[in-house]
Amino acid sequence: MTTRLPSTSDSLPDGEAPGCDTSDILIVHRIFRWGFREMPRLVRDATPGDLARTTVVADAVDLVTLGLHVHHEGEDAMLWDPIEARRPSCALTVGLMREQHRHVAALLGRVGPRVVDWRERADADAAEALAAALDDVGVALGVHLGQEEDEVVPVAAEVLSQREWDAIGEHGRESFPKDGIPIQLGLMIDAVPEADRADWPREHLPAPIRLLWAILLRRRYAAWQRALFPEGMPAIA
Ligand SMILES: [Fe+2]
Repeated sequence: MTTRLPSTSDSLPDGEAPGCDTSDILIVHRIFRWGFREMPRLVRDATPGDLARTTVVADAVDLVTLGLHVHHEGEDAMLWDPIEARRPSCALTVGLMREQHRHVAALLGRVGPRVVDWRERADADAAEALAAALDDVGVALGVHLGQEEDEVVPVAAEVLSQREWDAIGEHGRESFPKDGIPIQLGLMIDAVPEADRADWPREHLPAPIRLLWAILLRRRYAAWQRALFPEGMPAIA
């Protein structure tokens, strides 16, 4: 019987090979680009004084911002160190990624209190303050995601094992509230480019999750879509 050595940043665990399929991060990034484009619009479009609508939109804002927070948390904990250790020539780029994450985190920190304020007041001023804070996150994110995709993801695909890469995605799923799971999964499916969408669940989801999606989660996601986008949800592109 062999004993698996604990993983360190500079060496792959025994039995694991470098190289992984990183395509899922591009899907996740599409959701965030979409989310930080649509959320400020929904906040601004809500009728002042409409507390029910404010609650629906504020709940969605909380989900999207939490999703971004846990996505970055996973990268901070599991992505930067191994890349820096295994590809030292990327140290400057990784330093930039860490700094961009700190900047986005600071901007996200301004969103939370403004959501609380808007939920309570539901007026135009509170809505605009929140929408502007979301816009600021979206601008910083637009720069960060592009650089991460161009300069970091290709390196991760070469130096991380598939298990290490999958652990980052797993962190994002495990850190999400259970009642947000249908939304998280539905957005993932909708963010897959149309040509690949029909095959994606079979290729990327375990059979029990596909069954759960078919019998329960898909309906919950559809209800969320109808409530948030009564005129139809804009495509995630
Ligand atoms: Fe990132």
